[in-house]
Amino acid sequence: MKTYKLALIPGDGIGVDVTASAMQVVQAAASSLGFGINPQHFDWSCAHYLETGTMMPENGIETLRSFDAILLGAVGWPETVPDSVSLHGLLLPIRKAFTQYANIRPHRLLPGVEGPLKAEGFDILCIRENTEGEYSGAGGRVHQGTVNEVATETAIFTRTGVERILRFAFDQARLRRGHVTSVTKSNAQKYSMVFWDEITRLVAQDYPDVTVDMMHIDAMAARMVMAPESLDVVVASNLFGDILTDLGAAIQGGLGFAASANICPDRSSPSMFEPVHGSAPDIAGKGIANPIATIWSAAMMLDHLGEAEAAAAIMSAVEAATAKGIGTRPGRQTTDEITTAILAALEENV
Ligand SMILES: NC(=O)c1ccc[n+]([C@@H]2O[C@H](COP(=O)([O-])OP(=O)(O)OC[C@H]3O[C@@H](n4cnc5c(N)ncnc54)[C@H](O)[C@@H]3O)[C@@H](O)[C@H]2O)c1
Repeated sequence: MKTYKLALIPGDGIGVDVTASAMQVVQAAASSLGFGINPQHFDWSCAHYLETGTMMPENGIETLRSFDAILLGAVGWPETVPDSVSLHGLLLPIRKAFTQYANIRPHRLLPGVEGPLKAEGFDILCIRENTEGEYSGAGGRVHQGTVNEVATETAIFTRTGVERILRFAFDQARLRRGHVTSVTKSNAQKYSMVFWDEITRLVAQDYPDVTVDMMHIDAMAARMVMAPESLDVVVASNLFGDILTDLGAAIQGGLGFAASANICPDRSSPSMFEPVHGSAPDIAGKGIANPIATIWSAAMMLDHLGEAEAAAAIMSAVEAATAKGIGTRPGRQTTDEITTAILAALEENV
């Protein structure tokens, strides 16, 4: 039996509840469809930081390298550990060390979920560049605390980085409805975004079967609200993608439904799957977190591992549950009740 080695990092707060729920669903799908998932649990979190002084051990990255995939809940406990410490101590080093340059987030309304828009028939795959651009970390401050103080933050766009994320987007479009929208701002950013547009045109030449349009980020934000059904694959730089995917989460009904994957496309390292939401300290320990975003992320993980049938079965089970109003409104059902309903639908499906 094929068995996958899974690194499970529940993290903090509701990360613990939602990963426990997703693991029940993943294990049920695996045993029905004849493959194995062998999870190893890592307690790397803010609690770990308070005990040891680090979010993960020094050899954390090397430990994770041998796994087929990583499933993460959420990290962060701002009351005791600054967010900059928790983010820079765990999530960002993993994304960077494993060249997870494609952050992908699906945005569509599950049956029974009411979004804030009149539009219903949208199905968008946002692809955000995950390693460089505006979040490269290049910059500095001088003359601090004086009237002459200066802060710089330099966006870095490399040919390799831009080309590979655009190719990834065009490849994804081929698996979907064959259209890419490349997000730009080349009217105002005359170096980086002109460069981005040039590479978009070059890459497009290799994909004559994929149609492409280029849209400025400001107009794009409006289009996601006014005409989301006109979009298929959306590809954007780190900052633009960060903002657009929060907009995407909002139009699909909120953070309880927003799934994501950090993909290392050449598979030289494990990819990491996680809900978009954080540790939600306000509801932690109450057993009411919506596990659907994490279950959806876990389905994306199985798809990435080559278990497309299991991924599809999980998504049908999630949709069967939401169609009955389960998990569609905050606090209506507990995490356990939502999980039980999805497990029951899965049992009927496979
Ligand atoms: N990838 C990550 O690990 C990640 C992402 C975002 C925030 N964080 C961290 O999480 C902590 C809390 O951040 P925040 O409060 O800004 O964002 P959050 O996503 O944790 O919560 C925002 C709001 O959404 C609600 N919410 C989030 N997920 C939910 C779910 N599954 N079901 C029901 N309600 C849900 C919360 O109750 C809260 O009211 C911070 O330390 C932050 O840095 C981590």
